[in-house]
Amino acid sequence: MKILFIGDIVGKGGREAAMALTPVLRREYACEFCIANAENIAGGNGLTKNCLQELFSRGIDVCTAGDHVWDQKEFVTEIEQLTNVLRPANLPACQPGRGYGVFTTENGHRIAVLSLLGRTFMTVGANCPFEAAENIIPQIQKETSNIIVDFHAEATSEKIALGRFLAGKVSAVLGTHTHVPTADQQIFPGGTAFQCDVGMVGARESILGRAIQPVLHRFRTGMPARFTVVEKGIRLHAVVVTLNDEGRAVGIERVMRDLP
Ligand SMILES: [Fe+2]
Ligand SMILES: [Fe+2]
Repeated sequence: MKILFIGDIVGKGGREAAMALTPVLRREYACEFCIANAENIAGGNGLTKNCLQELFSRGIDVCTAGDHVWDQKEFVTEIEQLTNVLRPANLPACQPGRGYGVFTTENGHRIAVLSLLGRTFMTVGANCPFEAAENIIPQIQKETSNIIVDFHAEATSEKIALGRFLAGKVSAVLGTHTHVPTADQQIFPGGTAFQCDVGMVGARESILGRAIQPVLHRFRTGMPARFTVVEKGIRLHAVVVTLNDEGRAVGIERVMRDLP
């Protein structure tokens, strides 16, 4: 089975591009399930139920989040009504929402998605992602061997370390958060597809989806600046992972597509 995994969708422009391109890519690559990181869909910061429902209407099955999960205050209550939206599983257990779920694909296969947050160079206080994975994955394996991990983290070293830690235990460890796709797609021994970062759905003429000038100003002067999202000239980054009947990855392919 093939799974489409889309990187961080940024703002309205990213959302519209994901809505236009997801059905096309699903068809083109014959994917029966689609996961997207949606932590930046609401104006670049956080998620809302309305924005998520737009994505779900166009072929995205499950959305993951990250360090921006609570940026929109209404989402703290909304997340409880959304069974196919995940926040990092290694956030404190008292936080709302869930960190993993088991879902059914278009063709009736069971598939689990687990969201984890990194700790290196990250400001959000998360528990150890390795320990969380170690505790959660055996529970998931009772239900399915098709397991996709979204590791939302900054450092490539931490991402590769988690990928190696979970090699042979899950179907794929795919990185999000940096908004820049990496060219290191690989299948680790044991059949775990890996890529440090899938990238984003955001503007080509931008700095990680934000307008160039304010970001430059902040870097050069150290002064605060409002980072606006660029909504035009959107490029989508994703990967297509192919799994065999045992839930082992047999292929991983990078996808890059400009919104016409
Ligand atoms: Fe992030
Ligand atoms: Fe992001």
